[in-house]
Amino acid sequence: MSETLANLLQETRQFPPPAELVAAANVTADAYDEAADDRLAYWERQARRLHWSKEWDQVLDWSNPPFAKWFVGGRLNVAYNCLDRHVAAGNGDRVAIHWEGEPGDTRTITYADLLAMTSQAANALTELGVTAGDRVAIYLPMIPEAAVAMLACARIGATHSVVFGGFSADALTNRIQDASAKVVITADGGYRRGKPSPLKATVDEAVSRCPSIEHVLVVRRTGQEVAWSEKDVWWHETVETASTEHTAEAFDAEHPLFILYTSGTTAKPKGILHTTGGYLTQAAYTHHAVFDLKPETDVYWCTADIGWVTGHSYIVYGPLANGATQLMYEGTPDTPHRGRFWELVQKHKVTILYTAPTLIRTMMKWGDDIPKGYDLSSLRLLGSVGEPINPEAWIWYRENIGRGECPVVDTWWQTETGAIMISPLPGVTAAKPGSAMRPLPGISADVVDDQAEPVPNGGGGFLVLTEPWPSMLRTIWGDDQRFIDTYWSRFEGLYFAGDGAKKDDDGDLWLLGRVDDVMLVSGHNISTTEVESALVSHPSVAEAAVVGATDPTTGQAIVAFTIPRGHIDTEGDAGTALIAELRNHVAKTLGPIAKPRQIMLVPELPKTRSGKIMRRLLRDVAENRSLGDVTTLQDSSVMDLISSGMRSGK
Ligand code: WT7
Repeated sequence: MSETLANLLQETRQFPPPAELVAAANVTADAYDEAADDRLAYWERQARRLHWSKEWDQVLDWSNPPFAKWFVGGRLNVAYNCLDRHVAAGNGDRVAIHWEGEPGDTRTITYADLLAMTSQAANALTELGVTAGDRVAIYLPMIPEAAVAMLACARIGATHSVVFGGFSADALTNRIQDASAKVVITADGGYRRGKPSPLKATVDEAVSRCPSIEHVLVVRRTGQEVAWSEKDVWWHETVETASTEHTAEAFDAEHPLFILYTSGTTAKPKGILHTTGGYLTQAAYTHHAVFDLKPETDVYWCTADIGWVTGHSYIVYGPLANGATQLMYEGTPDTPHRGRFWELVQKHKVTILYTAPTLIRTMMKWGDDIPKGYDLSSLRLLGSVGEPINPEAWIWYRENIGRGECPVVDTWWQTETGAIMISPLPGVTAAKPGSAMRPLPGISADVVDDQAEPVPNGGGGFLVLTEPWPSMLRTIWGDDQRFIDTYWSRFEGLYFAGDGAKKDDDGDLWLLGRVDDVMLVSGHNISTTEVESALVSHPSVAEAAVVGATDPTTGQAIVAFTIPRGHIDTEGDAGTALIAELRNHVAKTLGPIAKPRQIMLVPELPKTRSGKIMRRLLRDVAENRSLGDVTTLQDSSVMDLISSGMRSGK
């Protein structure tokens, strides 16, 4: 990585925060100095955002690295912090969730409602024999009961393991077995692209292979037929008939709150374990700092699914701990039409929007006219997460969704980090499109070379975290050794994030994607992200995915799969000319070494359900191999589309 081409990213634009935001910002520039003076004292102050029934004796116990303990001796209840205390403070009537179902049904749930629902679920789970420390699997669509189920587990000290509702019976089985879950909470089905899709049938298949499961708690969402066994109980017959009174008990700061499995495209999924006090502290603090949340006036919307860590930290725990009013949407962005998201922003006067680059690029591809048809003037802040955002997508987001006025916060973090680590502060940072800028106050990150030496400004290497942080994963469930091997063995004493990164001349950070996604072309390290960004900066390109394919002369060669924008003609000679133009465009932007050997014009790209491009499949196409496993593909017809709709040029 040290040989990364000098300054591949030539982005120099910079966007200072709007004056009104600076004047009223939740967090100001002093926070960096305060945290640098005394990092642990800084986190202690953030922990005091929460209600503790017993204060901690020690902020951080790092006597046995890499096993951290934060807020040692402290006791608190997560659900109490997300619900009861807001109701006790007189905010029971504040809307917690404006929920929109895909078919158009809606629900409005106040903090008092959410507390009552969570108390009922806590009572029902207790009745089903769930006690503190037990594991509960949650396999639900994006309905309010998903948040209620998580909060009810937290309330009684059960450790939840949310499994994304799009995963197969095999994936669900592995995850239930790995955690020996006792109960699974699911629904008859959920709505996806206008159709009810089954969930209960998948759970039945998994449960037949999971003897640890004693009960299946089923929410009725679609009303479709379901098979029924003696383990099954309906949510409306147990939870909705239970008492709405429940007294929350405090748990140790290090009590396990949840396990979340990282998808892992090859190896066995890793059960990332998060605990209570440190996790909630950082989730709440970052949501307050990065989104500048004003709970009385903001309407916040995070478009992630609850099955991913983004949904855990920035739909459930962070926003609710902060008393936010938020929008929760069940469906896909193109159902029943491609303006659905903007229609929802307009309807609920959303002020803060948090979404993913893949979605932004999809919206770019659908065209500027769609968002233009809606009133988006309520928006004041935009966030991005999940992968590097190309400068062009960043600018498109700011211009077309944020009226050219809203700050964009590009937030870098991982399932493992539990909460945002690197991001602009919206009232402080003059953000650069495509850069996550710098670690948040209280967070220590660096970019090192393969000898673990920090690289100078202008250099590139591996992103590492140099000090423990409150919401860090505590281990991999049941496998401490794998925890050590995966994250703490590459560089002594440093957390290895697995991402490549660059420091620019100002020391700001540019994330380059997973280090496995770096190509070695004629001895030069070139990041797939940089070539993708160069392609997307061309006006004819909506989206691009780049892979390194084995090449007899250069070691690896750059192969790009490119989706043209909607109106672009790619038939016959026009396609050939476009391909030639794009290859030259990359060479001009990044240097001749980065010129793709081959560019293919394609109608779609294969993505996992979490929106990550499946480079492995594209590499197979690029190297003319028969296609590997496509079971985690969001839509398996995409590969057919690619093979049939491909226009290729060398
Ligand atoms: C990986 C973690 C964190 C919630 C969603 C993904 C990539 C994430 C960014 C960003 C560049 C990013 C990294 C990271 N990533 N955010 N703002 N800029 N890359 O969670 O599935 O655990 O994936 O996503 O490669 O390591 P995850």
